[in-house]
Amino acid sequence: MNIRPRRNRKSEAIRNLVQETHLSVEQLVYPLFLVDGKNIRAEVPSLPGNYRLSIDEAMRTIGQCVSKNLMNFILFPSVHEKLKDKEATYGSHAENFYLKIASEIKAAFPETTLISDVAMDPYSSDGHDGLVIDGKIDNDKTLPILGKMAVAQAQAGFDILGPSDMMDGRVGVIRMALDKAGFSNTSIMSYTAKYASAFYGPFRDALESAPKAGDKKTYQMNPANKREALIEAALDSAEGADYLMVKPALNYLDVIHLIKENTNLPVAAYHVSGECAMLMAACKNGWLNYDYAMPETLLCIKRAGADIIISYFAKDFADMLA
Ligand code: PBG
Repeated sequence: MNIRPRRNRKSEAIRNLVQETHLSVEQLVYPLFLVDGKNIRAEVPSLPGNYRLSIDEAMRTIGQCVSKNLMNFILFPSVHEKLKDKEATYGSHAENFYLKIASEIKAAFPETTLISDVAMDPYSSDGHDGLVIDGKIDNDKTLPILGKMAVAQAQAGFDILGPSDMMDGRVGVIRMALDKAGFSNTSIMSYTAKYASAFYGPFRDALESAPKAGDKKTYQMNPANKREALIEAALDSAEGADYLMVKPALNYLDVIHLIKENTNLPVAAYHVSGECAMLMAACKNGWLNYDYAMPETLLCIKRAGADIIISYFAKDFADMLA
């Protein structure tokens, strides 16, 4: 045999020498669920180790992350049912606790990156990402609501806005609204290929944001489709997105790869709640070893082409490296 691939695996140092993909904590984003109030750290039952946090507890968690070089956070609001309405008004309300917490975090930790969620569902009494009229999602009437929400988030100090709604044309509308309001420096990380996935369950538990009727299949993509992701990518790029995201990650590694091959923008992958929950459940059962399965999972998302990984494992990964 002339060729023996095993020679390049014969010692740890040689394996490291030829390692093609590296993952560092700088490339990770940690999702946090926020609630109004004080001294609240309520574990999400379907996502062990993740909590709905009030401002004080969120600050504590962020402080721990920052000390381990985990600097990037994507924030989601868990909103009381009584504050929800059809138009998701509270999303851009001056008293919105989510916006206030973001400002406070930014003041306390100016070196962090804060990513928002631009979508109606946390604030919508229908539990949908768009405005529901006669049982249907009205795309174009949703756009100004998102534009307004985006400006409020930019005002609060978010560095990057994350439209997760999948309405057509929303990146362009948000970009224009931001520029008009003087926020030309606020970035957009677009949920470009976001699929109508069964793996968002624990997230919807955390926010109590599941649709009251129907599903999200008229706006989120069909899991069977891949070429369609390129249409979304072309639109988001043309409309001014600074990052393209694929979501979920693990079942969609081929889509991550495809987008990476077809854009020069940074590609983000959202390793979603259900994907994390599955692995944690197996580890809790003793069927898998978390210390090995967790970093392998993140590394493989990176190998597929993600420059940035959003994952509920981010803090554990940072802890592990430290
Ligand atoms: C909603 C939104 C969802 C997630 C992020 N933003 C859920 C949904 O579309 O229903 C899911 C994230 C996760 O499961 O971790 N705009």
